[in-house]
Amino acid sequence: MAMSVCHALCLALHIARLPLVIAYLPPTSPPWQPTYDLANSTISMQCNSSGWSSPERGAEFGIISYDWSNSKVQWAASKPMDCEERLAKQAEMTGQQGTGSHVFVYRNLVKALPWFTTVREKLNDPAYSGWFLRFKPSAAPYHVPACAAENQSKCSTFYHDQEQTPAVPTAAQPHPDGSCTDGVCDCGTQPCGEYLFDHRNGSMLRDWLIKEHIGGPAGLRNPSVHGFFMDDYWCSNLICAQDPSVAGCPCRDPVQGPTEVDKNNQADMGLSDEDVRDIALGWNETMAAVEKSILGAGAYTWWLMDGQTNANAGPTLLKRDTCASQLRGACTESSHWQRSPQLFGLTINSSAVAPAQLEQDVAFFQLARGDYAWLGWGVWGMTWPFNAEPAHGELPPLPYGVPRPALLSKDFGKPSGLCKETRSGVFERGYTKAHISLDCNTFTASLESHPILASRKGLIV
Ligand SMILES: *[C@@H]1O[C@H](CO)[C@@H](O)[C@H](O)[C@H]1NC(C)=O
Ligand SMILES: *[C@@H]1O[C@H](CO)[C@@H](O)[C@H](O)[C@H]1NC(C)=O
Ligand SMILES: *[C@@H]1O[C@H](CO)[C@@H](O)[C@H](O)[C@H]1NC(C)=O
Ligand SMILES: *[C@@H]1O[C@H](CO)[C@@H](O)[C@H](O)[C@H]1NC(C)=O
Ligand SMILES: *[C@@H]1O[C@H](CO)[C@@H](O)[C@H](O)[C@H]1NC(C)=O
Ligand SMILES: *[C@@H]1O[C@H](CO)[C@@H](O)[C@H](O)[C@H]1NC(C)=O
Repeated sequence: MAMSVCHALCLALHIARLPLVIAYLPPTSPPWQPTYDLANSTISMQCNSSGWSSPERGAEFGIISYDWSNSKVQWAASKPMDCEERLAKQAEMTGQQGTGSHVFVYRNLVKALPWFTTVREKLNDPAYSGWFLRFKPSAAPYHVPACAAENQSKCSTFYHDQEQTPAVPTAAQPHPDGSCTDGVCDCGTQPCGEYLFDHRNGSMLRDWLIKEHIGGPAGLRNPSVHGFFMDDYWCSNLICAQDPSVAGCPCRDPVQGPTEVDKNNQADMGLSDEDVRDIALGWNETMAAVEKSILGAGAYTWWLMDGQTNANAGPTLLKRDTCASQLRGACTESSHWQRSPQLFGLTINSSAVAPAQLEQDVAFFQLARGDYAWLGWGVWGMTWPFNAEPAHGELPPLPYGVPRPALLSKDFGKPSGLCKETRSGVFERGYTKAHISLDCNTFTASLESHPILASRKGLIV
């Protein structure tokens, strides 16, 4: 008890003097056992906006993370909208495949999205009005509508923009980002839109985010949900001026404030630069508490992987011209490659929609990886393309898009040590069932199984 009071006081002092001290956590490993099984070390962010994502395909990945737009055709038509329940249902269907995949779902702690039921219930309830940012009436007319496009008498005093928001299709906009049906968009008593949490509210909002939005029945209380992709962040010009090295600085997504929100939001809400800074600091403090609660529940978030803060989903790729320097870095015990959880990406030939250097990338992964590492489709977002592209017949077999290459199911065993540069530009690492090498001079890989062990395994099987 005494300790927690002291802790709170210390935190308050730090906020006053050193704004950047209490904030989201440094890269941290998941609370589960490491695995060197390659198939279990794969990752994908999945989304099928026209329906469920194939649970069989999702269950092929060590981590499979479902985006909010998954099954959007269905949840945007629901009355009321049920994105949150559908994410949980998708997690259950994928979990039922029994492959031991860690299934993640989407959350947003910056935007209060009313197509998530737990958020909508609070937006609808005046008792929680302190959790949400408001329009400033004297700033009217606003740059975004306060009332629903389909019903001018359905209005909100809470700030909300219309980006990435489901709408009733019109002649001018026949394909909105999610189509509501029967002329009605049901986000509750408020119009649909991207609302914003006011993180200056502090512990009341924070405790609810942790217990219900993250920890509730569609979140960590659901045994099929093992983690989250958490989207968006707050950026403050005052914080950036004080320290330009702060993640996200300079603020340009598209302006300071909440990311991916209408660029006039600060004026429409009448927020000062100090207000924006205070909300950014409150958000950051909440992020740290949320991350701790997720880890404490045995779960994980994308945000805790090295380089993945601020809603990043950007893997490291092997490049031919930096191959040797990348591996020299990775082959030391104290490097971030060995110490922090890392995301690796396969280099993709975009016209072929296929890995361009699969053997080299797998060799690089096996050489450079530490206890926690994942390999996936190497473009930002890391969505393995399940869905068939209609055009040109260029894609591999239908109906479920690009198959996972057989090489990613190969069992190399466990590493017997770190990788070593055995000749200039040539890197090798022993595994219990294979010997891995990558020659950065010729850019050729070798992934040889140990013949004796391989045949012994054959006898046992
Ligand atoms: C949030 O906290 C992290 C970790 O201390 C820091 O790197 C980041 O710059 C902070 N962001 C803001 C907006 O304060
Ligand atoms: C993880 O490895 C186990 C044992 O090899 C395997 O049965 C399971 O299917 C793998 N899971 C995934 C998601 O690759
Ligand atoms: C996406 O959803 C549609 C509609 O349910 C379905 O026909 C299709 O097979 C799904 N695609 C994948 C890759 O899951
Ligand atoms: C947080 O919001 C609640 C609900 O509206 C309100 O009662 C409380 O006073 C707010 N707290 C702060 C510190 O703003
Ligand atoms: C329009 O919104 C008002 C206020 O929320 C509501 O009472 C009314 O039923 C809505 N009209 C339609 C046609 O949905
Ligand atoms: C990418 O794929 C296309 C089509 O298969 C092929 O013609 C091209 O050579 C490939 N590019 C590279 C850099 O491998």
